[in-house]
Amino acid sequence: MGRPIRFILNDESAESHLHPGTVVLDFLRRDRRLTGTKEGCREGDCGACAVLLGELTGDGQPVVRYRAVNSCLLPLGDVEGKHLVSIEGINAADAVALTPVQEKMVGHGAIQCGFCTPGFVVSLTGYLLGAGSWSFEGAVDAVAGNICRCTGYASIKRAIADLLDQLGGMQVGGLQGDTGTVNPEHLRALVACGVVPEYFLTVAERLRSLKVSERRQSRSAGRCLVAGGTDLFVQRPGRMLEQELSFLSSVPEMGEIRVEKKRLLLGAGIPMERVREIPELKDRLPELADEMSLIASAPIRNRATLGGNIVNASPIGDFTVMLLALGAVLQLKKGQAVREVPLERFFLGYKQLDLKPGERLQWIVLPREEGRFSFEKVARRRHLDIASVNSAAWIAARGDRIVKARIAAGGVAPVPLLLSRISACLEGQELGDEVIERVLDLAQGEIAPISDVRGSERYKRLLLRQLLLAHFQKLFPEQVHAEVWV
Ligand SMILES: Cc1cc2nc3c(=O)[nH]c(=O)nc-3n(C[C@H](O)[C@H](O)[C@H](O)COP(=O)(O)OP(=O)(O)OC[C@H]3O[C@@H](n4cnc5c(N)ncnc54)[C@H](O)[C@@H]3O)c2cc1C
Ligand code: FES
Ligand code: FES
Repeated sequence: MGRPIRFILNDESAESHLHPGTVVLDFLRRDRRLTGTKEGCREGDCGACAVLLGELTGDGQPVVRYRAVNSCLLPLGDVEGKHLVSIEGINAADAVALTPVQEKMVGHGAIQCGFCTPGFVVSLTGYLLGAGSWSFEGAVDAVAGNICRCTGYASIKRAIADLLDQLGGMQVGGLQGDTGTVNPEHLRALVACGVVPEYFLTVAERLRSLKVSERRQSRSAGRCLVAGGTDLFVQRPGRMLEQELSFLSSVPEMGEIRVEKKRLLLGAGIPMERVREIPELKDRLPELADEMSLIASAPIRNRATLGGNIVNASPIGDFTVMLLALGAVLQLKKGQAVREVPLERFFLGYKQLDLKPGERLQWIVLPREEGRFSFEKVARRRHLDIASVNSAAWIAARGDRIVKARIAAGGVAPVPLLLSRISACLEGQELGDEVIERVLDLAQGEIAPISDVRGSERYKRLLLRQLLLAHFQKLFPEQVHAEVWV
């Protein structure tokens, strides 16, 4: 028997000899009989299985950063050295009172059968613990991955509004800077008003004294690379129990951000949700942070990594399409050997990549250029749905003249595409109806959509045309005359 996986489960130290690929949902319900965490879809779609995952952060005084994640897609091996909180751990062991989150859900009649309720409570508690500043919209976004089949969302929204009204005055600001560090005062304030029990204040020190490093290092010699696991544990959960797994979250460099004079380097292991907190991107490309809410749901974004979205090689990967428009170059690493590949050349065919055996995607390198950014996506529903067609545009202009452009699209070919012909055609032009017409025509020659469940070939061609128009209208409202293009 190998070394156990060690972590803190609610208020207790825990260890497990289960296979690291066992999903936490099964560990909680079957191994520990903690059945408050519910099993719904097992595909990250319903939020019934939500748990909190707390990780040590901060170089000086240790603090824990909590995020809500779906336990059905969370491998036990990735919990090592962390704090795992199931719904049972959100109340103190001897508590008779409800937490403010639970109280508001009950008070507003936001519960009927109660199956979804633990997931909503965990997601909202995670939001209160982790968000830099609270807002109604932010809290609603935090539960966008939680499905309720019987209550109706109006009462849940009323509960959220009332909760924020009650707690708003004590907000001290959860996050600091770009490192995802948490203000320790914030946790103390949440404990004081009963959002989480007092034992949360002891967790940082307890995590620091857990002995996990030896195991982590030995495990990174394994074969199947697990980043966020949100694709692997949907596509092949059974095989995850038969393989040696290597958890990329245990490689510190994978989560780093480096700002150089002309380039921004993003570690491929950064979870998508963190993109919203990177000051460099927030300041220079605020639209990027806003549009992230169109990708999956908060618990998925809290786990799914930037590198996973690329290597997953979905022809409609939202973040991949954004990165194509932003001019990303990939740094691939094998041992000490490093090579660079522009993102548009990384995709060789449907799910075929320029990635050699043993190589991992280490850095996503973005040029630090001034420009305007737009992302558009058409899907059957706003959250938790992959696109029929998506598109991103990055355009630098001097006055009305376009200096440089990169336009990308997904869902219109076997791979995510940089539309290089229309990008080149725009350069040096002043945008007007004639140029737009030329670009829209040219775009149709660059794509090769197929008819499938997400739409016919003709529909996808029409969608791309509309999405390109939407970019131009958003980025150059003065020059695009909507009435010409209806
Ligand atoms: C409910 C749900 C909703 C979703 N909605 C959307 C959506 O709206 N838009 C969208 O774009 N996507 C969506 N997705 C897909 C999601 O974005 C992907 O599952 C995710 O990006 C994969 O990243 P990961 O880190 O979880 O990868 P993993 O599942 O860990 O890995 C995926 C593959 O990439 C490999 N890999 C990962 N990182 C590296 C690396 N650094 N180097 C080499 N190989 C690596 C792994 O070995 C594996 O083969 C959704 C997924 C779910 C479950
Ligand atoms: S069981 Fe539905 S998201 Fe996990
Ligand atoms: S209360 Fe029944 S599923 Fe939400």
